Amino acid sequence: MSQEQWAVILGASSGTGASIAVEVARTRGLNVFGMHRGRYLEQAAQVEQEVASTGRRIVMHRGDAGTSEGAIQGAELLLAAAGPRSVKLFVHSLASGSVGLFVPEKGEPLHSRQLERTFTAMAHSFIYWAQALVAKDLLAPGARLLGLTNPLTESLLHNTGAITAAKAALEIYVRHLALELGPRGHRVNLLKFGTVVTPAIRHVYSPEAMARLEEAHRQMNPSGRMCTVEEVARFVSILVGEDVDWFNGATIDFTGGMTLRLLDLVLNPSR
Ligand SMILES: NC(=O)c1ccc[n+]([C@@H]2O[C@H](COP(=O)([O-])OP(=O)(O)OC[C@H]3O[C@@H](n4cnc5c(N)ncnc54)[C@H](OP(=O)(O)O)[C@@H]3O)[C@@H](O)[C@H]2O)c1
Repeated sequence: MSQEQWAVILGASSGTGASIAVEVARTRGLNVFGMHRGRYLEQAAQVEQEVASTGRRIVMHRGDAGTSEGAIQGAELLLAAAGPRSVKLFVHSLASGSVGLFVPEKGEPLHSRQLERTFTAMAHSFIYWAQALVAKDLLAPGARLLGLTNPLTESLLHNTGAITAAKAALEIYVRHLALELGPRGHRVNLLKFGTVVTPAIRHVYSPEAMARLEEAHRQMNPSGRMCTVEEVARFVSILVGEDVDWFNGATIDFTGGMTLRLLDLVLNPSR
């Protein structure tokens, strides 16, 4: 019998990571090893239930996946649960960055600790996990490693400088890893998509702010609506397939053209 294959999803208890976990279990038959720190316990339980209902195995581990120690410990647990050469898909879906200004007129500027934590969790940890997966011989033949990003490196949002800079670093990390892991048969890519509504976003935004956000995206996106986590998850499932194994080191634009109209919106607001 051929060996079972696994998806490793960092940030599997909420939003994008949660949707991807369920989708790749359902459509690709992958077992799921998920990590989260325990802030969304109900959602984590729901993901476990939904993956189990597909007949696949799921191991959810609570711990910090955004550090080098977390990556090493996570890989040890993964090896015990899944065995060597078992990871077909690795998705880095951690959202853990500081917002704030570098030189605000009032209030505290972003502190060096906040910058370091943001970079460690949102960029460096992608490398730490790639290193740990390789060191423990966990990657299956033709494994896919995927980072996630947004269009904010193209069109800036005033208080997200630290996160956006970390995303820029992540993009370069992805390209270098593609270069290093390509000869071993693996593929490393970055998936760029626009705003999707997640429980975390609903938690942070008031209903009025949510309505404003949705209206802004109706105007911005040529399709006249926001993207959904389910659409992102279905596309990630496609990226696991053999037909798309020529993608490597790519930043794949799944934004639906979210930034194309920005200048037009500013210059011709009434159109
Ligand atoms: N939402 C969007 O509009 C959007 C658009 C484009 C790209 N993205 C990207 O997609 C990724 C996921 O974003 P999301 O909005 O789906 O996030 P989310 O709903 O806030 O979920 C983040 C997940 O990561 C976990 N997490 C965060 N820090 C962690 C850590 N250090 N160790 C272990 N688990 C950790 C969270 O659980 P705990 O907090 O309990 O640990 C949760 O499961 C991010 O890279 C984001 O930049 C999001």
